Order: sequence, then structure tokens, then C-alpha cells
Amino acid sequence: MSAFTGVTVDREALIANYATVAEQVAPAGVVAVVKADAYGHGAVEVARALVDAGADWLGVADLDEGVALREAGIDEGVRILAWLHAPDEDFRRAARYGITPAVSSVEQLSTAADADVPEVHLVVDTGLSRNGAVESEWPELFATAAALTRNGDRTRIEGLMSHLSNASRSDDLDQDAALQRAIDGLAAVGIRPDVVHLAASAGSLALPETRRDLARVGLALYGLSPFPDRTSADLGLRPAMRVTAAVLRTVAVPAGDGVSYGYTWRAERDTRLAVIGLGYADGFDRAYGNHVSVRIGDRRFPVVGRVAMNAMHIDIGDADVAIGDEVVLWGDPANGDPAVEDWADAIGTINYEVVARVGRSVERRTT
Ligand SMILES: Cc1ncc(COP(=O)(O)O)c(C=O)c1O
Repeated sequence: MSAFTGVTVDREALIANYATVAEQVAPAGVVAVVKADAYGHGAVEVARALVDAGADWLGVADLDEGVALREAGIDEGVRILAWLHAPDEDFRRAARYGITPAVSSVEQLSTAADADVPEVHLVVDTGLSRNGAVESEWPELFATAAALTRNGDRTRIEGLMSHLSNASRSDDLDQDAALQRAIDGLAAVGIRPDVVHLAASAGSLALPETRRDLARVGLALYGLSPFPDRTSADLGLRPAMRVTAAVLRTVAVPAGDGVSYGYTWRAERDTRLAVIGLGYADGFDRAYGNHVSVRIGDRRFPVVGRVAMNAMHIDIGDADVAIGDEVVLWGDPANGDPAVEDWADAIGTINYEVVARVGRSVERRTT
């Protein structure tokens, strides 16, 4: 039987990673971040696994992602927080689906209140310059929040959040100090949110000061390290994503022949190539060619020539490799698989991007 071509997500690894992270950040709670299709791992299956692991908060970028989780059966006993909103979002979906919007402006706050959303979190920008009200906007935002309470509106300010830039320890601590100014500003208008949250994976693992009440953790739950100098194993985490492909065909290539578009690689000796059916249309960067290796059986073999739209080539020499054999692109290095970080390094990016970019064309299965 031919090997599986696609992404296999290890449910047990997700559950174990959740336990490791939850223990480490306690007494803070965890918001399990499953945005961007759970960083390419498949949001619904991952959310189910993390809920089984004990997650009572899920974090998504936008309401579409939250609605998809609710429609897949994640019930309202599990809170969903969404923090990026379209300019014309009216938040009625948030109320209908029991999704908590994190709002960044007076306009979003007022619109959420008009939609009778029961709880919102306020997002303040403490240095990332992405979403979140900037400090000069806080007085008006906080006054609007206070007015909602005074008017007896249904909407309650349940949380206050910001997001770290991970630029340096001192930059992150400056952001924490800015968040404290926001907490104080809210307190001055009589609002004390139940939960304050700032840190994501890096902050919550390396800067305990920034954990506050909830840590919004994505990458670490997928078993990957946010630190260039620490591996998954160093952090007690297990990479949950394994990418495999079946060998579609083997091709004999005489010494001197060029391979794939542009002949960026030529055979130095008579050799054989294995072709697999994953390419840049599936999210595997064209530039991986000549810079990464895969595992077949117990051995590593280089990916050679340019990655094409739907295929890549592997130089297998005279190894005993046949059509249908399993090729492992990346998985858990503790089991001998290549690390996703090798693929990231090869094209000058980070593990986040490599996993998140595995395309929707690639089949996912959870074991
Ligand atoms: C607002 C917010 N919080 C938390 C996270 C989770 O980050 P990480 O995957 O580094 O844990 C993200 C992801 O980028 C985010 O955008």
C-alpha cells in the first residue's frame, strides 16, 4: 500500500503539550490559539483535542474562524476569543455564536454593545503597533467602557489584552509596564477586568512576569519552540505535525543531466530520483530545492532542483526506494524525522510560517 501523502497531526502530542504548557504557566490559564487553521494543523480537530486536554478558552483571529468552530460543534461551554475584525463587522454573529470579541476601538466597542454581545475584551496596543487602541486613545475608550456599565448595557468588559513584540526582554517588560498603565486607567473609571492577558508562547515560557491571568499560546501547543536557541525537546514539547508523501515514481538520471526547472541542480554521478507530489501550490516554497533533506526509511536524502508547482525531486542514489514508499518531510526529530526548523532555516523563515503555509490542498488526518 502506498504511503500517506499529507499532514498527520498527533492528537496525543497536542494533549501532552497542552498539559506541559498549562503546568508551566499556572496559575495563569491558557487561551489555546487555533487561528489560521490551527497554524496549518486543522482547526476543528485541533480544537477538539485541546478541549479534551482541558482547554476552556480558544483564541482565533476573526469571527469567521470562531463561527467555523461553533458550527463544527465546539459548544459554548468553551469560550472563543476573536481579536481581528473587518471594518464593517456588526458583531451580531459574535452574540449569536457565543464568541467573545476583543475590541480595539470606541467604534468596535459601541458596535459590540449595540449587538448585545455579553462580554468583550479591550485590546490595547503596548508596542506592537498592530491592533489595539494606542495610548492616546485610552481615555476615550475607557470612558466609553465606563458609560456602558453606567447605562446598564448588557455588554461587560471582561478582559484586557495586549500582545508582545518579542523584540527583547526589556522591550517586552516595557510593554508589560504599558499594560499596567492601561489596567490603572481602567481602574480609575471603575472597571476591573476579570482577566488580563499579554503573553503568547515566547513570553509565557520565558518571561513569567508577563503571564498575567491568561497566556494565549499557539506555537508551543503544536510542539514547536518559539526560541531559535531551544528545541522542542528542550522545552518538553512534541511536534504534532508530520508531513509525509508517497514516492510517485523513480527516475534514472545520468551524470551531468539537469533536474527540474532551470537546472539549478545537475547530477554529479549516475543517480536515481524519487518524485513526490507536493509542491509550491501546496505551500512548499520553491526555494526549498537544494536546501533541505527528507527521510526515507532510516536515511536522509536531499531535495534537489527547484520545487515545482505540484512536485519535488529527491536524490536517492542507489538506495532501495520504490514507488509508494514513505518520504518524511518533517516531523518529530526525537523519532529521527527532519525538524521543521531545518525547512524554516533553509528559506530564512521561522517554524510558524512553514507549518502555517502548508496548503489547504494537502490532506490532514489526525491520529
Ligand atoms: C494576539 C495573539 N495572541 C497570541 C498568539 C499566539 O502566539 P504564539 O503562537 O507565539 O503562542 C498570536 C499569534 O500570533 C496572536 O496574534
